[in-house]
Amino acid sequence: MARDPRLLGYLHRALGHEMAAVQQYMAQSRICDQWGMEKFCAHFRQDVTEELEHVQSLIDALLKLGTPPNATQLPAVRLGRNLSEMIAIDLVLESEAIRLYEEATEYCIRVRDFEHQSLFAKILNDELTHREELNKMEADLPNQGAET
Ligand SMILES: [Fe+2]
Ligand SMILES: [Fe+2]
Repeated sequence: MARDPRLLGYLHRALGHEMAAVQQYMAQSRICDQWGMEKFCAHFRQDVTEELEHVQSLIDALLKLGTPPNATQLPAVRLGRNLSEMIAIDLVLESEAIRLYEEATEYCIRVRDFEHQSLFAKILNDELTHREELNKMEADLPNQGAET
């Protein structure tokens, strides 16, 4: 099959997203470590591991297509000044990922590229889980902004 430039575009956009997610979650994990919040430090560190697995599968897919990975334009990392801001920012990040993987999955269905459809659908499923976990973390936070 000839190389599909649109597919390569999705793979590279996804790779850029995942590299940015690794950078963002690692930074947030280290900030939580500095704040003495061990539980959240460990949570964000686990996210780094999962996003790195996404990086790995995208790089595998690019290499199989004979294309070196080249995510040159990484989206900006956003950190947040407290835990509640971090979670809000991460929810945006995960929602952007979900939109990207939904679009990539739909495209692959349209062109009957089932191999890459299943790659994007698997990552999509992980990002949906990440968003659920963040929603749960947000719901469990003490109500910092509430007036008493
Ligand atoms: Fe990811
Ligand atoms: Fe994620």
